[in-house]
Amino acid sequence: MKILALESTCDETSAAVADGRKLSLNLVYSQINIHRKYKGVVPEAASRAHSEKMSVLVNLALKKIKKPDAVAFCRGPGLNGSLIVSAVAAKTISEFYKVPLVGINHLEGHFLSCEIKNDEITDIFKFPVLALIASGGHSELWLVKDYGLYEKLGSTRDDAAGEAFDKTAKLLGFEYPGGPRIEKEAAAAGRASFSFPSPFISNGFEFSFSGLKTAVAYKLAERKLTASFKREIAYAFQEAAISALLKKTELAAARYKVKQVAVGGGVSANGRLREAFTKHFGRDGIEVLFPQKKYCSDNAAMAAVCAFRRFEKGSFRNETKVDADLEIKSWRKKC
Ligand code: KG4
Ligand code: ZN
Repeated sequence: MKILALESTCDETSAAVADGRKLSLNLVYSQINIHRKYKGVVPEAASRAHSEKMSVLVNLALKKIKKPDAVAFCRGPGLNGSLIVSAVAAKTISEFYKVPLVGINHLEGHFLSCEIKNDEITDIFKFPVLALIASGGHSELWLVKDYGLYEKLGSTRDDAAGEAFDKTAKLLGFEYPGGPRIEKEAAAAGRASFSFPSPFISNGFEFSFSGLKTAVAYKLAERKLTASFKREIAYAFQEAAISALLKKTELAAARYKVKQVAVGGGVSANGRLREAFTKHFGRDGIEVLFPQKKYCSDNAAMAAVCAFRRFEKGSFRNETKVDADLEIKSWRKKC
């Protein structure tokens, strides 16, 4: 079965193909150069760029596979105007070829991208799995009982983890997106002469990152902003942010007695986070799974994986409406 998948939720336009378990194509056009001068994503500019690039990527994908057997697209959460681009493209292709159309939750894609090893969909999950999605727009913990059986345990009360990296980078005068730059500066510092309190709210499995951003802003006002001071701030910020993610994930892993933790979303590309999670959970015999680096940030391959699992489980539903605030929900009946 050849699944053509499309993604345009935020600032990456992407088309991918899953040929059975093989991800034979994953084309990604990143809009970073468009948004960089504004130091963040401009929704109107994002929609325009998606509408220019989507047809180019779809053409390339269809040249490769001739005819898809199914079409998938991320129907939310995301930017409204951006979501519509892949929805319209996917609906048109599905109607033209008379093949099923399946709408995917973008965050489910980030979680399932952990299953891709060497560009193949593998069966590495041993359910129940605890999923941490840490991206530019979301920080969520889910208990995954099986494919399509999801329970959201908590999310962020304010900023998402990636958003905190981006906003801190902006305060430090670094360009968008801030995550990779903060990681680089923190690695160059190697240590800091101060630390930020790791944001921890006692309420269940929820996160909060806005206080950490404020702590960074106060620190900046303390002395002259030299390159080495900026590096130290990046280091201290990164440690506090990772520690906050780790603490709540650890609590949830203990509560639900999972043997695997899967971390997805743009922030899961962070090397220091990977090291901290692997070391920490390794001590408790819990395996931590991450996506291949190229599948951490937004891409259509992850939507292809979701569609693959739906067809495999026979739970295909024609969910085609776009929804900017789409909540994760189970697509299989509870067992
Ligand atoms: O998943 P993603 O590509 O888009 C959303 O769905 O939001 O995540 C983008 C976010 C940005 O906030 C970016 O700064 C962050 O992921 N990010 C990182 C790293 N690479 C990307 N954060 C920390 N360290 C990184 N290496
Ligand atoms: Zn994303």
